[in-house]
Amino acid sequence: RAASLVVRAEGRINPDIRKNEEKVVDSVVISELSKSLTAFCRCWRSGTFPLCDGSHVKHNKATDDNVAPLLVKK
Ligand code: FES
Repeated sequence: RAASLVVRAEGRINPDIRKNEEKVVDSVVISELSKSLTAFCRCWRSGTFPLCDGSHVKHNKATDDNVAPLLVKK
């Protein structure tokens, strides 16, 4: 049983965002966005999640990954 817990933890994509929630769900009303272009985080490293703060750049350099935000245009 302990081994399955270790495998599960290694497979987690979310390192530390709102871990007290069963599921991290966000919703946005597009017409209420204040900016014409809004970037939403898909790397789960942003300090302003669900918005992108550029943390994906550091993540990509450290892991050779290629993640980037979802851009929503109003
Ligand atoms: Fe996560 Fe930019 S900080 S996609």
